[in-house]
Amino acid sequence: MTTIERSAVRPDLADPATYDAGIPHEAFATLRATPGLVRNPDGPWGSGFWSVTRLDDLVAVSRDTTTFSSAVGHIQIYDVDEDVRDARASMIDLDPPIHTRLRRLVSSAFTPKHVQDYVGDVRRRIGDRLDALEAAGGGDWVAEVAAPIPIGVICALMGVPESDHDLMIEMTDHLVEGTSSAELDPGAYGNTKPLRELPFNSPAAFGVEEYARRARRDRLAEPRDDLLTQLAVAEVDGERLSETEYARFFQLMIFAGNETTRSAMAHLATHLMDHADEFDRVRADGDLLDGAVEEVVRHASPILYFRRTAMADTVLAGTEVAAGDKVVMWYASANFDEAHFADPLAFDVGRPRVPGHVAFGGGGAHFCLGASLARIELAELVAEVLRRGLRLRPAGEVETVSSNFVNGVARLPVEVSR
Ligand code: HEM
Repeated sequence: MTTIERSAVRPDLADPATYDAGIPHEAFATLRATPGLVRNPDGPWGSGFWSVTRLDDLVAVSRDTTTFSSAVGHIQIYDVDEDVRDARASMIDLDPPIHTRLRRLVSSAFTPKHVQDYVGDVRRRIGDRLDALEAAGGGDWVAEVAAPIPIGVICALMGVPESDHDLMIEMTDHLVEGTSSAELDPGAYGNTKPLRELPFNSPAAFGVEEYARRARRDRLAEPRDDLLTQLAVAEVDGERLSETEYARFFQLMIFAGNETTRSAMAHLATHLMDHADEFDRVRADGDLLDGAVEEVVRHASPILYFRRTAMADTVLAGTEVAAGDKVVMWYASANFDEAHFADPLAFDVGRPRVPGHVAFGGGGAHFCLGASLARIELAELVAEVLRRGLRLRPAGEVETVSSNFVNGVARLPVEVSR
């Protein structure tokens, strides 16, 4: 058994300010080099937890849903009161077998084969946004490209009308604020519930929930050919989803399909500027396109972590983990694990594809449902930027999203020319 000094970790990995300048690579490298697991102490952001920073350990946790639960405790660092846990939960907060039954309701729409049906819509959206950006000679890459494309794609797929897309962007922005240290207005979006009962402790979750309840009632009254109707009429164990279950599902899809891909697209712009030579390689050899997408997603690690709760005493990486302990899988660290990725901080579109990164999760039941869709969106965007021969240059201050959960970019001004 490894015994190590478990003094307070510097920096505090739970503090949103730790990520203000991006992923704290040096701190993670130190943790990866430390034998066993290192404990982040209890603090204002939530209970203490074991940090899982190496790729092999992360994969072991991710694939063992019996020992490491998503349903007990909470999958984010801040704790959730037990009496409200069920009311806030969506499938990502549940364990098999109920998780499996819920995921089956939507999984067929996201298979690698099925997502090919959306390529036309993805291309149209990318073309429109790049036309507008080019015509203006540049602008905020986040507002003009990275934010509207993923929300447009996921909303179209679900059946949310185009006129509501801006509202969805606004509400998901506010959801993320729940993972920052910002004080939220409890009454925003007409919220009447205590914030602790709402996902992300955010009043925007109330807004999303109300929107979803209305959508369900509309779809039941007037069925359409969309995922929102499919979810409204689908049955689990002979029963339809309740309004609350439906609303949680809706919120998960909107958040997961939007914020993450947006973040990867924002980081893509930075790489287009910092590593133009790597993209010249892709332009010269189209076979490198998929590798470029994987490298963007690995570097972005849009979701920094997910947390699990140990269901039994166990040993992980030589460290004793007790039943009830919190274990945090740091995707943002494992994606730079020098044991797997040579020169991990380098941006290399020709990097071997095996082993893969874990930005979409370390495998197992919860592996990202939208990974194929996100890959298509990113590949189409890279291909179109290269096809047009666009050159991006920095044009102002970059603002990051203050969060201990997402590696987001709020604003990224660029100049664009051919
Ligand atoms: C670059 C973009 C994306 C990244 C980095 C990403 C990342 C992740 C991660 C880390 C997880 C948790 C995996 C685990 O616990 O094993 C996840 C789950 C999930 N993702 Fe994504 N995601 C992305 C895009 C999308 C898109 C476009 C959708 C569209 C629907 C989506 C839907 C989901 C859903 C529904 C889950 C929960 C799956 C479950 O609990 O079974 N994601 N994603």
